[in-house]
Amino acid sequence: MRSGLRKFALTVHVTASVGLLGAVAAFLALAALGLMSADERMVRAAYPAMAVTARVVIVPLAFAALATGLVQSLGTPWGLVRHYWVLLKLLLTLFATIILLIKMRLIGEAARLAGETALLRADLRMVGFELMVHAAGGLLVLIVPAVLSVYKPPGITGYGRQRLRPAPRL
Ligand code: HEM
Repeated sequence: MRSGLRKFALTVHVTASVGLLGAVAAFLALAALGLMSADERMVRAAYPAMAVTARVVIVPLAFAALATGLVQSLGTPWGLVRHYWVLLKLLLTLFATIILLIKMRLIGEAARLAGETALLRADLRMVGFELMVHAAGGLLVLIVPAVLSVYKPPGITGYGRQRLRPAPRL
């Protein structure tokens, strides 16, 4: 990749992936509000807000972080499977995205329960607790790629070592 293009692609990657961290943190704050607030209006508002945040912000940013991460890996000498830190970032982001997609149904269910005429606090509390645990776990998992990106710990995979070895002279 040319230097200008590489910088542009890196800017998009950092914006998407760090934005994802911020959006998951906001989702966690709403989950805590839904679970702990004594004010019924707050509880009723928190879960639909979480559903919108997940659908409109978190899912698109998760795909953007993955796609731009692939561009950063494949378009630069870092490669996708040459350095353990890059491979680990890919696996963690992929894992978090898959869990997020699986939990989208539960997020919709919480929004539906919050909108019912008679608020079933016990049902909502169970779903809300599960969502909060997943949001906190997701945030912790996604902080690891951010740390790896800055420290870039050494460690080259077997494939990376093969690629770095100079080609034998014939
Ligand atoms: C939420 C997940 C992610 C976060 C928070 C994140 C964050 C970052 C940050 C802050 C940088 C800039 C580091 C620097 O310039 O010193 C970076 C670079 C990079 N990221 Fe990610 N990233 C994520 C996901 C991914 C994924 C899934 C991949 C691979 C598929 C990836 C591959 C890379 C590569 C190769 C670079 C280095 C680019 C370069 O220096 O040219 N990232 N990432």
